[in-house]
Amino acid sequence: MPKILVTRWVPESAARILTEAAGREKVLAHAEEHLMPRGELLARARGVEALFTVAMDAVDAELMDAAGPQLRAVANWAVGYDNIDVPAATARGIAVCNTPGVLTEATAEIAWALLMSAARRTGEAERFLRAGNWKSWGPRLLLGVDLYEKTLGVFGLGNIGKAVARRARGFNMRVLYHKRTRLSAAEERALGVAYADKAALLAQSDFISLHCPMTPETRHAFGAPEFSAMKSSAVFVNTTRGPVVDEAALAHALKSGAIFAAGLDVYEDEPRIHPGLLACENAVLLPHIGSATDETRTRMAEMAANNIAARLRGKAPPNCVNPEVL
Ligand code: GLV
Repeated sequence: MPKILVTRWVPESAARILTEAAGREKVLAHAEEHLMPRGELLARARGVEALFTVAMDAVDAELMDAAGPQLRAVANWAVGYDNIDVPAATARGIAVCNTPGVLTEATAEIAWALLMSAARRTGEAERFLRAGNWKSWGPRLLLGVDLYEKTLGVFGLGNIGKAVARRARGFNMRVLYHKRTRLSAAEERALGVAYADKAALLAQSDFISLHCPMTPETRHAFGAPEFSAMKSSAVFVNTTRGPVVDEAALAHALKSGAIFAAGLDVYEDEPRIHPGLLACENAVLLPHIGSATDETRTRMAEMAANNIAARLRGKAPPNCVNPEVL
């Protein structure tokens, strides 16, 4: 009987950790890059003690019950775990684990890539060139907005938000942040950031980057009222989770010129993209690749595998988000 179900291809180093913990024939791995169909997931989970999942796998009570009462761990190959019903897992004694820390810098880098690309219209410019439309240097060709000495608003200042804020120093930017719990004055000074309430952040920022987790409180935290409160020259970036943003409202804001541009890596209903966003030249759209570097994805996979290995050995997983089950 397999002990671990892995819902995607994983790097060899992570596979080794899992097979050392369970035995080679006891790891059931989906050798594919794409989503395991739901029916197959429910069927294959039956009898396993651990699930190795990704952010697009819905880990709900139905899946936990399909697996059975021996299920002891769900390790997400991601820092976010809004795809997992944590209360349902806790009620069943299942440890839910994630991969914090190791993807901080890679995700901050993709946020900056989006910010710069949206500000300087690089996606649109490349499409223009490849379509053979470039005839001459033009004084008004593809004009963007400057970053240097502008104001960056970071919404949610956890590890990734802080890494984004640190990178703003190179652009001599003023950095505002908004977060439920304010940092100490010493932390604010060390990081070079100033606290702002949401209204001030919206009104004063030239760039807004989202780094809050997806929770019932942050769902649609950015919608029509927020976009209309931003500067018309503002650039909006989302690398956290799609449902934090009302995509229909964002598409409208981009089309109407309420904001200048947006850079997105995440969507409300992945992999479906709102048709209004696809129609906007001023939206830079990436397919959820925030942590997608070889080194980072490998570190994350090893971390997820180590979480499962610890749980199967009766030890506390190093990155458990519901430690009350241990
Ligand atoms: C990716 O989206 C993650 O949460 O790690």
